Amino acid sequence: MATHPQASPAASCIGRDTVRVDGPLKVTGVAQYTSDFHFAGMLYAVPVGATIANGRVTKLDTTTAEKMPGVVAIFHRGNIGKIFRSIAGSGFSGICEERRPPFEDDVVRYYGQYIALAVAETFEAAKAAADAVRASYAAEEPNVASHLVAEDEPEEVVTTFGPMKRVQSQRGDPDAAFAAAPIKLDHTYVTPIETHNPMEPHSTTAIWEGSRLTLYESSQGVVNLRGVLAQMFGLPPENVRVITKFVGSGFGSKLWPWTLCPLAAAAARQLGRPVRLVLARKMMFHAVGHRPRTQQRVRLGATAEGKLISLQHDYVYTRSMLDAHHEDCGEATTLQYSVPNLRVTFGRARRNIGGGADMRGPGRVPGLYAIESAMNELAHRLNIDPLQLRMLNEPQVDESKGLPFSSRHMVECLQLGAEKFDWSRRNPAVGSMNRDGLILGWGMAECSWMAARFPAAVYVQLRDDGSCRVASATQDIGTGTYTNLAQLASARTGIPLEKVEVQLGDTSFPEGPISGGSMATPSIVNAVFAAADQAIESLKTVAVSTPGSPFANHKAEDVSFEDGVLFLKNERRAKSVPFFELLRRANLRQVTGNGQSPATFGDPNPPKFSTQSFGCHFAEVTWQPEIARLRVSRVVSVIDAGKIINPLAGRNQIQGAVVMGIGMALLEATEYDPQNGAPLNSSFADYLVAVNADAPPVEVHFLDYPDKELNQLGARGIGEIGLAGIAAAITDAVHHATGVRVRELPVRIEDLLA
Ligand code: MOS
Repeated sequence: MATHPQASPAASCIGRDTVRVDGPLKVTGVAQYTSDFHFAGMLYAVPVGATIANGRVTKLDTTTAEKMPGVVAIFHRGNIGKIFRSIAGSGFSGICEERRPPFEDDVVRYYGQYIALAVAETFEAAKAAADAVRASYAAEEPNVASHLVAEDEPEEVVTTFGPMKRVQSQRGDPDAAFAAAPIKLDHTYVTPIETHNPMEPHSTTAIWEGSRLTLYESSQGVVNLRGVLAQMFGLPPENVRVITKFVGSGFGSKLWPWTLCPLAAAAARQLGRPVRLVLARKMMFHAVGHRPRTQQRVRLGATAEGKLISLQHDYVYTRSMLDAHHEDCGEATTLQYSVPNLRVTFGRARRNIGGGADMRGPGRVPGLYAIESAMNELAHRLNIDPLQLRMLNEPQVDESKGLPFSSRHMVECLQLGAEKFDWSRRNPAVGSMNRDGLILGWGMAECSWMAARFPAAVYVQLRDDGSCRVASATQDIGTGTYTNLAQLASARTGIPLEKVEVQLGDTSFPEGPISGGSMATPSIVNAVFAAADQAIESLKTVAVSTPGSPFANHKAEDVSFEDGVLFLKNERRAKSVPFFELLRRANLRQVTGNGQSPATFGDPNPPKFSTQSFGCHFAEVTWQPEIARLRVSRVVSVIDAGKIINPLAGRNQIQGAVVMGIGMALLEATEYDPQNGAPLNSSFADYLVAVNADAPPVEVHFLDYPDKELNQLGARGIGEIGLAGIAAAITDAVHHATGVRVRELPVRIEDLLA
């Protein structure tokens, strides 16, 4: 095996603040996002969305649209050509939330569902033609009701990721324990539908060459998308190539394919020309996913001292008529606290809305909002410090699985957070704390997120110009994956960071992980190291077998490689040769190593540990009752996520998630018109997200306990955990400031005026 250059200068870039290697490309405008690629003869497509949410298309009049200048075709069910359905494959492949191919039937199941596609020489002509298509409907009343009642369904239901038991977890006798508990709390918490709203809209460009399809797509998972497209067009996967160089974020909406991809590909097939389809912001609210609405009843039974006796979490969430997305609000509930009696159940309620989807921290984010809110309410009821209540109920093992945690330092998170926030100064009396004439509210909450690996493959090339190239079919969705891979390759080879070229987002490369579940980084570490090691082994073989090499006639195992130079072990580095000189002497452009790392996610073998990341948030709000002005003024977050490869980008992840959490707590909600089922606030003006002006100082601290169960560096993921728990910390701070307990997000000014 290659020596692991622990002590080399390059190795130390792991765990160091590292500016993004792709930063200059982005700030100079050189980075090409999906719709920045242009192709000869390219056409523009604009979809026509249904203006009802329930019913049938009875007539589609395209005659005016077809005659408009620049219009090439108006596609609909009658002329789009064959598009097959896709199904989930073995392992973690073929994933798709809305299986129905576009135009498969005349049934309209949600507002904005694509019913036609205008294709023209320019975007403007396509848009005008799309607007000129006239549809007649047999409309029925849409169901977009906000109160959720679980539908009558079997004990086990099919979800996107497989069958799920509706009694998700159970231990002890939660009913009897609750009935007998001295202290009982029973509340329902509601989170609204939220729309992802990445800055870059969904964008797809399809190009056919014979029976080969290339799709430029803004995607969080190019490999999965290739598999789905291959099925939909009846192609061998090797005939499909998906390219995603830069992504203007996705938050989960770009994890799994939506119907715009096959629509663009089918149109391009019919016309024999490249077709581009970029969604307008309004359409981002229709057919590319959202976080489902959740309604979660939490029942806590406790002793008067605050020890949990019973925990019941029964939640219902919305889904569309077409998707089987499971919003797993109960995932964290089963393991967050020590409690002998527990039951978690879920139910679903169909609505005439587009497909639900993973949105940053799916499941745990709404789930922990409910559980952490209930814990804060229990603390208030018992007059116990909410931090103390958590300490009192800290579990020793994952009680849902009876497994030890691979690494859990929640207590240290709580202690460090309390110290940094100055929590001990908190006066628990409502409205009792002031600063500069403002009423202060302080709240806190815990968070957690699963840690696992997807399968990952990478190749690493060492080249004769002294550079190193790393390639994998994973993506950088703005989180820092380009930089992480450069750091990993640099650390393992000793080649300086600026000499490492990283290439991602192309299914021509070895299959990399989706950028989802906060799992890209933990998945890829071992694969990069293995690929680098193999390239180094190959280099050593070259070293000893090249005539005239200073290592000729030695054994490969006698050669060492550190900091980009080769030397004989027994000579230390007295006589060292840079690797690129050796390659030049051997007339080799490069040596290549391939590395793989298997999945733990979905592994049928029983795990030995429960692998999770943990953390907590402390939030301060200011409240001015005179003008009903509520602001989040300060947040301290402590995250225990194993080894942090790049703390600079890591802090950015948590800060960004906290700001998104401010939006979740105070601003975000997608509203549907009961008349026609349309998302009403489908613009950046009307759908409020937290922006710079809403963002307070967010102080982020990472603990440093490498978790070697995940990979050689002990890195877990950090993309999502920062959004878990924060809304509960904020709503408890709101209660502390105002005395108003809001149990339905977002907290609105009118809630506080009562
Ligand atoms: Mo995240 S919802 O796994 O993109």
